[in-house]
Parts: sequence; structure tokens; C-alpha cells
Amino acid sequence: MTTRSDKAISIPRNPFHPTFGRSPAIIGGRDVELDSFELALAEGPGNPWRTALISGTRGIGKTVLLNEFEAAAKQLGWIVLRAHIGSEMISELTDVTIPRAFSAIDSAPTGKGRHLTGLSIAGIGGFKTEVSTSQPEPGRNLLSQLQDLSALLMPQGSGILLTLDEVQSAEPAQLNEIAHAIQDLNRDDAEIAFVAAGLPSGIEDLLQLEGATFLRRAERVSLGRLDVETTK
Ligand SMILES: Nc1ncnc2c1ncn2[C@@H]1O[C@H](COP(=O)(O)OP(=O)(O)O)[C@@H](O)[C@H]1O
Ligand SMILES: [Mg+2]
Repeated sequence: MTTRSDKAISIPRNPFHPTFGRSPAIIGGRDVELDSFELALAEGPGNPWRTALISGTRGIGKTVLLNEFEAAAKQLGWIVLRAHIGSEMISELTDVTIPRAFSAIDSAPTGKGRHLTGLSIAGIGGFKTEVSTSQPEPGRNLLSQLQDLSALLMPQGSGILLTLDEVQSAEPAQLNEIAHAIQDLNRDDAEIAFVAAGLPSGIEDLLQLEGATFLRRAERVSLGRLDVETTK
């Protein structure tokens, strides 16, 4: 079979790492999902793949696909914000992750920091610690910070992908806050995408949240086993 990763591989290695969530050397069988997601980012607001819910049993490949979605977004110059399950999920986003994104944009090597190429925005992994002029004021909530970030990225034709793994373990109040923010940004046709992954029960719970009715229109990605043809 041919895969997206074929060209990058020079030495043979076991593609099936035992480590959970680490991407294998070869990603097989998820081209349809990836193509649909990439198209949705390029196409503009309104495409249902801008909000995707990945569900499936443990070990089926949810985290690996989430990682692939993140990589695809970065390639298109989008900012990727990862929400981490835990009691500090929202404050980690507002106090650390989003300010880092602003810093990375500010300290990007191009121009005055506002005229970015997709590539430099994508380099958020290696963020800088300089104090940023456009860093949001402390105390701003998730929605207002995302609005500011989105406004900064919009002129570059870039947007924000927010990802959340192991959604079944998140607290409903936190999910509500995230869902509320995404829903609001969608209403303004912002360049925002949201992908959550989790066990089927967790995804069902997510759909029951009050104030998150837009999630019921999300693209449902229900993962099954890769067939023998794909994995051999
Ligand atoms: N598309 C894929 N192609 C090849 N191997 C995969 C793929 N998706 C998952 N795997 C393998 O299965 C393992 C478990 O995947 P993971 O994404 O962690 O599952 P989940 O998050 O659903 O529990 C990975 O470490 C990887 O070895
Ligand atoms: Mg996982």
C-alpha cells in the first residue's frame, strides 16, 4: 500500500509502536478522513468537518488520527491548541496555551510579527518566552481569548484548531465552556475547527450537553478496525 508517510521512511521499522497515542511510522487507512478534514480547513466556515467527533474503542487509532489532524492543520499554517483533560483544562488554555500562541506569533521572524507565513505560525512547538505586546490581559475568558487570536490570524488566512483527547474523562462544566466558545466563534464565521476524540460513551455525553447543540451537526468519525488490505 502507499501511505502519506512512505517518503519519509528510510529504514525499516516496526510501524506498530506499543506506546499508546504515539503515531506509528506508517499511518494506514485514514486518507478519507484526513482529506475531508483538510478540505474543510481550506474551504472555509460551514463545512461540517470543521467540528469532528472521533469515537471508537481503546486502541482503535483515535489519538493517532487526532495527531494527523493536528499535523494537517499545522501544514496549512493553522494554530493548534491542545486541551488537556484535568481540573485545570480551561485555565491551562487561557493562562498558558493561548498566551504561548500569541507569543509565538509575536516573535515570529517575519516582518513585525503580524505578517506570517503558515510555516512560522505552525512552529508553535518551539515557542519563545519573550513578553508579547498582543498577549491578552489576564482574566480574559476562553471565548474572548480565542476571538482575539482568531482576529489576529484571520488576515493571514489562518485559523485555530482546538483538539481534545479522552473526552469521556472531561468534566461537563469544562466541556460546556469549550463548546460554548466554539459555538460562538462559529456564529461569527471565524476560522475555527474543533476535534474531540474519545470512547463512544464520552462522545454521546458530549452530544447531550446543553448549549452545545451545534455538536449534533458535527462530523461523526466512528473508527473501526483497519482491514487486512490496509495494514499489510
Ligand atoms: N492509522 C493507523 N495506521 C497504523 N497504525 C495505527 C493507526 N492508528 C493506530 N495505529 C496503532 O494503534 C495504536 C493505538 O492507537 P491510538 O491512536 O493510541 O488508539 P486510541 O487513541 O483509539 O486508544 C497506535 O499506537 C498505533 O501503533
Ligand atoms: Mg487515545
